This record gives sequence, C-alpha cells and structure tokens, in this order.
Amino acid sequence: MIEKEKILNAYIFRHACKLFDTEKKISDSDMQFILQTAQLSPSSFGFEPWHFVVVQDRGLRKKLKEQAWGATAKLDTASHFVICLTMKFPLMKYDSEYIENFMRDVQKLPENVIESKGKMYEVFQKSDFNLTDERKLFDWAAKQCYIPLGNMMTSAAMIGIDSCPIEGFNQEISNTILKEDLGIDTSLYGISYMVAFGYRVNEPRPKTRRNISDFVTFK
Ligand SMILES: Cc1cc2nc3c(=O)[nH]c(=O)nc-3n(C[C@H](O)[C@H](O)[C@H](O)COP(=O)(O)O)c2cc1C
Repeated sequence: MIEKEKILNAYIFRHACKLFDTEKKISDSDMQFILQTAQLSPSSFGFEPWHFVVVQDRGLRKKLKEQAWGATAKLDTASHFVICLTMKFPLMKYDSEYIENFMRDVQKLPENVIESKGKMYEVFQKSDFNLTDERKLFDWAAKQCYIPLGNMMTSAAMIGIDSCPIEGFNQEISNTILKEDLGIDTSLYGISYMVAFGYRVNEPRPKTRRNISDFVTFK
C-alpha cells in the first residue's frame, strides 16, 4: 500500500498549471501510464463513453487557441494536450449497435446476459435517470468522462507531472475544428473538456479550500 501522506502530497502537488516548461517533454511511457489510469476508470454499465485525442500538431493547437480562452498558454506550452470526446446519443442510446457490440466484443458477455443487461440499460435510461433527449444523454455521458480526467490528473501528479483541466473554450467552434481538421464525426462525438499535461514553470499559490466540515455532513 502507498502511504497516505504520499498520496495527499500528490493531491497538493496537483494544481491547475497555467504555464508549462517547453523544454520538458513527457516520456511515452509516462504518458502511457497516465492513459492507463483513464482506461481503468469506472463508467456507468462499464460502457466507457469516451475517446481521447492527443493534440500534438502545432497548427491544430494554434487553431484551437483562437477561441479557447482558458487554454491559450497551455496550448502553446503543454507537452501533451488532450481533448476528451464524449459519445453522443447514436452511440449511447440503449439500443445502439455500439452498446450491443461493446457488450459482446469488449465485455465478452454471453448472449443471454447481453439481452438482460440491455433491458436494464433501457429501463435505466427511460425511467430511472430519464435520459430521454439527446442533450440529457450527452450530459450524462460527459459526467462519466470527468472520472478519467480526475484519475489522469492525480496519477500524473503522483509521478511529478503537472496538468490543467480546461473548459474555457467554445464547444461548438472546437467541435467544428475537430470535424474539419481531423474528420471527427460530430454527430457521434462532442468535446466535453480539454486537459493539458507537462511540467510547471512557476510554483503555484498555496491551496485554498473550505474545511471538510463545511461541505460534509455525517448523520
Ligand atoms: C472542469 C474544470 C474546468 C476548468 N477550466 C479551466 C480553464 O479553462 N482554464 C484554467 O486555467 N483552469 C481551469 N480549471 C482550473 C480551476 O480553475 C482550478 O482547478 C481551481 O481554481 C482550483 O485550483 P487548483 O486546481 O490549482 O487546486 C478548470 C477546472 C475544472 C475542474
């Protein structure tokens, strides 16, 4: 087991890094490690409603920068810049081909379980969580995409790598850029967030947070 103090130190080390050292690159094996913690993240029914695009192309970064007000210095300086694509309605709906193939090919479920799990997923979407329109389903899938985000940032911090989560961009314009430049099918995927990784230039301000007793109630 890892000592609690070491784990907490990684949480303190992690901060929203504004500027990265352009001389320092994350190694392939460290990046692979970070992505593995995304891979191992939990998701509802285990359907992994995400895809990550690692944007290393300078031209594409420049294009994104024009409207990504929360990412400008990060797009210029991050060693690795990741965009999280969330699966949309045609992929995530209970009766989609993606879901059926996923249960068969990835989860390796037998046919009778595929049928019963599929039915449960249908009830969940229709009545339990009322995921009845495209926007609701996208937001539900996007919520899950933030779990790998947290895991990637924490695992990066554990090996001394800095990060910054980013929502400071225009979703529609960014989606259009990915469609035009990378051929991403935006009827199937939409950007939920971006996240930059690299090595800090400046030390962060000390953390400010509420006390635990101010946001947790034990009853
Ligand atoms: C979902 C989300 C979106 C964020 N978007 C941005 C952003 O666009 N640009 C930025 O510099 N920081 C962004 N942040 C960083 C937050 O401002 C930061 O996490 C918060 O102020 C707490 O500071 P700390 O992370 O350094 O502890 C974002 C954080 C989250 C969780």
